[in-house]
Amino acid sequence: MKAVQYARYGGPEVLALVDVADPPLPDDGVLIAVHAAGVAPGDCKVRQGELQHMFPVKLPKIPGRDGAGIVVAAGAAAGYARPGDRVCFIAQHVEQGGAAELIARRRREIAALPATLSFLEGAALAHAGVCAWIGIVETGAVEPGMKVLVHGGGGAIGSLAVQIAKHRGAEVAATTRSSNADYVAGLGADRVIAYDRDDFTAHPDRYDVVFDLVGGDAHRRSYRVLKPGGTMVYLIAAPIEDLSAEFGVSVKRAVIHDRIETLEAVLALAAKGILRPQVGKVFPLADAADAHRLVESGAHTRGRVVLQVR
Ligand SMILES: NC(=O)c1ccc[n+]([C@@H]2O[C@H](COP(=O)([O-])OP(=O)(O)OC[C@H]3O[C@@H](n4cnc5c(N)ncnc54)[C@H](OP(=O)(O)O)[C@@H]3O)[C@@H](O)[C@H]2O)c1
Repeated sequence: MKAVQYARYGGPEVLALVDVADPPLPDDGVLIAVHAAGVAPGDCKVRQGELQHMFPVKLPKIPGRDGAGIVVAAGAAAGYARPGDRVCFIAQHVEQGGAAELIARRRREIAALPATLSFLEGAALAHAGVCAWIGIVETGAVEPGMKVLVHGGGGAIGSLAVQIAKHRGAEVAATTRSSNADYVAGLGADRVIAYDRDDFTAHPDRYDVVFDLVGGDAHRRSYRVLKPGGTMVYLIAAPIEDLSAEFGVSVKRAVIHDRIETLEAVLALAAKGILRPQVGKVFPLADAADAHRLVESGAHTRGRVVLQVR
């Protein structure tokens, strides 16, 4: 099969489209013909070798934390799936990933892709949706009537977090660059703060939950916009300094797991049309290096960059 692979850590130039052996079909697993694979900032950080302490990958490595495709073969003990099934899949950073024509997965690594969603939408939704759900629902415990601020509301995870928080009945504010303000408002945010024009701390609103997808300065300045006893939820982006004791709030890291029930919950919301997947720029598999370059540049905005594999 064709796959994008890197044999050493480095910049996007280490990515190459190569021919590799098809993955073997596990007895209790399936082979998936990948149609679309997500390109996340985490894929770039792992490729750079920045996250070796967290994700000791085995080189050569196929990147790609998630994707969507069609089951083409099922092992004898894989009664849960059949050839022809449309599925979303998750792949851990330490495994071989989705930027390939085929991937082998087991029961708790796939979920049915709703008929209403395209493969590109499935890939844009899978890992990003899981992260957004873990941040807003499982960690932030957002409830009706709460005030929530999402930093990075135009990004892959933020664009879904805004929608999930709205669906939970929260009043949602989100930061984004000014050129994305209308886009983020269109996702349902009640208030959009353009971080390149306005200071989010200047507004009198105080929040029950801040979901920080940016870190660094945005994180540090967010303590003062939390209500006393409020919750700062963060994903590992730029480094953070925990100032919770000084401000009388709690700080919780959204710990990303791959429980399949979370992906199923996200897909169920999308199947009902409540959660709209956000597909960013689409690249052919052969141009994976360009896709990584774009993600790394920070110039990419609006949803998830996706590789079209077929
Ligand atoms: N295990 C983990 O802890 C974990 C898991 C997943 C993701 N992450 C991290 O979480 C972060 C977000 O992931 P993602 O996939 O959503 O990335 P993404 O699609 O690149 O989105 C990041 C967004 O941040 C926005 N942004 C940049 N500077 C900002 C600022 N000063 N204020 C507000 N927004 C700002 C950008 O919005 P504009 O386009 O509007 O500028 C961009 O859309 C990444 O750093 C990723 O590595 C960590």
